[in-house]
Amino acid sequence: MNTVKQANGLLESVETCSRDELRALQLRRLRWSLNHAYKNVPFYRHSFDAAGVHPSDLQSLEDLARFPFTLKSDLRDNYPFGMVATPMEDVVRIHASSGTTGRPTVVSYTQNDVDMWATLVARCLRAAGVTSSDIVQVSYGYGLFTGGLGAHYGAERLGCAVIPMSGGQTEKQVQLIHDFKPTAIMVTPSYMLNIADEFERQGLDPRKSSLRVGVFGAEPWTNAMREEIEERMGIDAVDIYGLSEVMGPGVAQECVETKDGPTIWEDFFYPEIIDPDTGEVLPDGEEGELVFTSLAKEAFPVIRYRSRDLSRLLPGTARTMRRMERITGRSDDMLIIRGVNVFPSQIEERICAHGKLAPHYQLEVSREGNVDSLRVRVEPQPSLGELTEAERSGFGEELAYAIKSYVGVTAAVDIVNVGEVERSQGKAKRVVDLRPKG
Ligand code: DLL
Repeated sequence: MNTVKQANGLLESVETCSRDELRALQLRRLRWSLNHAYKNVPFYRHSFDAAGVHPSDLQSLEDLARFPFTLKSDLRDNYPFGMVATPMEDVVRIHASSGTTGRPTVVSYTQNDVDMWATLVARCLRAAGVTSSDIVQVSYGYGLFTGGLGAHYGAERLGCAVIPMSGGQTEKQVQLIHDFKPTAIMVTPSYMLNIADEFERQGLDPRKSSLRVGVFGAEPWTNAMREEIEERMGIDAVDIYGLSEVMGPGVAQECVETKDGPTIWEDFFYPEIIDPDTGEVLPDGEEGELVFTSLAKEAFPVIRYRSRDLSRLLPGTARTMRRMERITGRSDDMLIIRGVNVFPSQIEERICAHGKLAPHYQLEVSREGNVDSLRVRVEPQPSLGELTEAERSGFGEELAYAIKSYVGVTAAVDIVNVGEVERSQGKAKRVVDLRPKG
């Protein structure tokens, strides 16, 4: 097996093994995971039985398609610990996803699970070009959210010095970057922009900060946003993907040398793309919903978990494992405006392409009669200062025209004052739905 020297660390041999070796490992681990879930979680036993399948039916990786899906609602129905596959004494960590409505989704980890997670986030950081000599500011929220602690343990595992800043306190974020001189930051891309604004507000040039790389995720962002962040901060910006149900941050990571979409750590998570309507497995390269099966998790195995994230599976480039295309959106984020499917990311691309607008934006959807309408609230680049009325309406018309031409939908555009769009300290809220409920 070949090894590739990168930065001050060697890649794990599995990152560069042959596809055949990887598939053999996946099959072995998949058998274990199906058996483990079936034997220890009543939900999986019932759902496999109801579908007429047994773990012993898995002869090849493709046989996984015969097994039933797991939905977020299944996890909620088994709140809080019904999906745990080990004795509770073996659980050492519990996280939960906030959930906008109803019960949160609760996930549990054994010590081995926490170790695996740290190793994988360390692998992510290595792929981002981070080494043990780096100082890493973790600005994902600490707490029940997996972002903060997940990033933290991974950075420590790699041997970095970690600043556990958490989200929020934007002035202090800047102060710590200025004083402690971190070289890497882990934060949501929308909050990175807020931090960049705060640098400027304090009269500091963000391009002159000590930071050289940012590992951004937890929310959808576009390549246009990457360019904006790289330009404003003078850093490399790479994408980290994950979801709490499957582990947390670190399910997939973009390699800094290629910046061509996150590599999925397929030795631990088996990915499939399905047609979200029919559930049929789609071939690599086709767009659909990402589905994950954990291959080695002890406390919280997930079998064919439907992520709702839309993407495509692409061949490996920097690593043996396949890549996923940067998430275009979640199926539940998709807006249908007068029959046109619209993702916030499509609007974000047009905003970034405009040149005079900043990606601080929010989409408001309302209903007049039976017709949905879209209003885009967006800020200008702060460097432009106070806009004249003519500039304001000119920018608005230009953006509305670009949205109509590229996205195909008519939108009203309000160019609002700098600071008027609500700032996120974690995941940005891009859509405000004013339509009547129910
Ligand atoms: O957001 C875990 C995470 C923390 C990932 C920090 C990366 C960095 P959840 O709160 O369970 O977990 O939300 C998971 O966030 O299904 C996607 O819709 C979205 N998401 C996460 N990473 C990305 C990304 C964490 N890089 C949900 N690009 C997922 C687009 C992302 N969307």
